[in-house]
Amino acid sequence: MDKLRIGMIGVGGRGQLWKYWHKSEEGRSIVVAGADPSDVARSQFQFENPAAFTTVDYRDIIDRSDVDAIAICSPDNFHEEQALAVLAAGKHLFLEKPMAITTAGCDRILNEWQRSQVRMMIGFNMRYMNMFRTMKEIVDSGVIGEIKAVWVRHFVGRGGDFYFHDWHANRKNTTSLLLQKGSHDIDMIHWITGEYTNRVASFGSLDYFGGMRPNELTCDECDLANICTEAQPNSPRRQCSFREEVDVEDNQMVIMQLNGGIQASYMQCHFTPDYHRNYTFIGTEGRMENFEPEMKIVVKTRKSGTMRELADREYMIKPASGTHDGADPVICNDFVEMVLDGKEPIATPMAGRMSVAVGCASAESLRNGGMPVDIL
Ligand SMILES: NC(=O)c1ccc[n+]([C@@H]2O[C@H](COP(=O)([O-])OP(=O)(O)OC[C@H]3O[C@@H](n4cnc5c(N)ncnc54)[C@H](O)[C@@H]3O)[C@@H](O)[C@H]2O)c1
Repeated sequence: MDKLRIGMIGVGGRGQLWKYWHKSEEGRSIVVAGADPSDVARSQFQFENPAAFTTVDYRDIIDRSDVDAIAICSPDNFHEEQALAVLAAGKHLFLEKPMAITTAGCDRILNEWQRSQVRMMIGFNMRYMNMFRTMKEIVDSGVIGEIKAVWVRHFVGRGGDFYFHDWHANRKNTTSLLLQKGSHDIDMIHWITGEYTNRVASFGSLDYFGGMRPNELTCDECDLANICTEAQPNSPRRQCSFREEVDVEDNQMVIMQLNGGIQASYMQCHFTPDYHRNYTFIGTEGRMENFEPEMKIVVKTRKSGTMRELADREYMIKPASGTHDGADPVICNDFVEMVLDGKEPIATPMAGRMSVAVGCASAESLRNGGMPVDIL
């Protein structure tokens, strides 16, 4: 095979990834089919890719002989059913994060994947961002010693825009935003330290979003839209973010024990005004912290025999072109190289499973008074 023929499940939203595969520089992939229940998403895809086969039902594309691989970019609660069907059909799979919305669901996907012998990777594009790749290189170099503490603060500014105006805000679709939004950061903690979590305890609540507004209310029809700080009329995400059915937490924290004696914490708040992630890694020889707004990483290590004299280094991260800080074109290319050239993926199925397992265990803990939960 010298050109990978890809079918998309979900062509709106994250499904826009199709453009990187269809227009890959080396011409090694082409998007030949797309399934999406939304008329708007499907007709836009058909307009931009007129030669592609389009359908409402994902099952119509998985058995097509002109499709070698499938990318699942549908909402989280469909991932398990669709991934199992794709793997059973023997197609290679790019599966967006989170892998599934339960740990048992991830395990069913892993079992089917092992049985099917196809190639599979998870959409952990943060593993392809220059900022976090650099942080991993610094830790791997050993310059800050053996990692013992990790503190991650996730400021989900504009959280209402992306997480509380649509399906993301319901447990039945996501389980928890620790799993949905947090799956990336939990994975970063695992990837950069090289260790998985074995125990968590978590606290959280719904402090700002949700409320008494009707579930059917949209920003377009709302009489408070002109004074509501969260209003986004004319957007695909326009359900009222203060509606009754909202039941995921918007403010939460997890304490984690990782293998190798590492203590970590992850905090996520959806009603802060600013958007960035602040990571601190402390090792036996020094510490590293990133400053996303300044695109900077600072490393503090001992200059001589004393901790009082520090040798500070700063790394400035160059901006890269492409969505998600340039990560999306690279992860798409890696998927093609994984299937066509046998390249090992860095966003592995097991990593996908472990971040879901931590998110699920954390949701269980915080909804049961913060009791510790073991990760199996
Ligand atoms: N890796 C990343 O950076 C990243 C970024 C955004 C979203 N995501 C993931 O991508 C997935 C989609 O998120 P989104 O923000 O694009 O959501 P979205 O709601 O904006 O878009 C989802 C698309 O899937 C379609 N869809 C709905 N039900 C479907 C079904 N049963 N079968 C096929 N298509 C269906 C919708 O019509 C829509 O076009 C989620 O799992 C999310 O976690 C990943």
